[in-house]
Amino acid sequence: MTHLASGHTAEAMQGEELERQERDFKGYTNGLVRLNPGGWVLPSAYTKFADRLYRFEFRESDVVVMTWPKCGTTWMQEIVWTMRNNPDLDNPQAMVPTHNRVPFMDFDMLVPGYMLELMCQDKDLKSSFKERCPDGDPMDGMFYQKAMEMADPRTIKTHLPFSLLHPQLLDTTKVVYVARNPKDVVVSYLHHSRLLKCHDFKGSLDQFVQYFVDDELVYGPYWLHVKEAWEKRDHPNLHFVFYEDLKSKNMDELQKLNQFMKTNLTEEQLQKVAKHTSFSEMKAREDKAIDPMDDAFMNQDIVISDGGFFRKGLSI
Ligand code: A3P
Repeated sequence: MTHLASGHTAEAMQGEELERQERDFKGYTNGLVRLNPGGWVLPSAYTKFADRLYRFEFRESDVVVMTWPKCGTTWMQEIVWTMRNNPDLDNPQAMVPTHNRVPFMDFDMLVPGYMLELMCQDKDLKSSFKERCPDGDPMDGMFYQKAMEMADPRTIKTHLPFSLLHPQLLDTTKVVYVARNPKDVVVSYLHHSRLLKCHDFKGSLDQFVQYFVDDELVYGPYWLHVKEAWEKRDHPNLHFVFYEDLKSKNMDELQKLNQFMKTNLTEEQLQKVAKHTSFSEMKAREDKAIDPMDDAFMNQDIVISDGGFFRKGLSI
């Protein structure tokens, strides 16, 4: 058992429970841990980064996009980044992949060793890492270091819940939390877990739903994650958004974000942001982008049968 700076204990999953996870998720080759209190399920590699993530030095100028997986993270990352860095849609940096503009600070634990080696050999990833972290070791938390060393103004993505980050986070930094109807989350996470080789889910929809209900999916439990943020919804540095509202009342939600982040965008600029971050435009940009790492990360048979990252973007 490992004791973490956050006050949690991390215990390796074992026996039948681990065997079942490894049978259904072929990507979980390095084991899982369960943290208590909370029962958070995370890859074993989390324990290597846990204390560094907990002590991550957030800045006043940061905006953190916090979500449970599949709640509209990428959409909100693009909205926040565009509002802060590209309100007139003339910033050439917008062509850089989202993960480079808005680093996913806890991604490293999800990357299996063989994939990390491939990433370290990839020309673009290697050069973007060296540019930002000239003295860094990419094998020791490439994404964490990229988030640390990024120039202001930083927009940072995390799927970690409030309780695994520093309790003073909201004292210094603005957080945008996105929640989504759990039925849509499960369907979207099922697709994601089949698509991405780091999960490589081989079971059925029913089995996946059971994992969700039992709080056994990676980053689970969903409800506790949402509850921790919901309880803080009146904090002036927390902005709580529902995916469904962002979809049905897009301009109203962009106005609220404009006030929260104090970005002072005009109505015309917000209209531009809305169009630029619409599902169809984001999907079209993704379809055009050629990422040589796609084969390493994604099961191409699932891309062909069920679609890639931008699946449907709908609410039930
Ligand atoms: P679906 O799988 O239901 O289509 P995350 O970024 O947290 O992983 O969430 C992914 C979900 O958000 C996917 O849902 C994806 O299609 C949807 N999404 C991504 N960009 C979107 C956009 N611009 N508008 C609406 N939904 C979007």
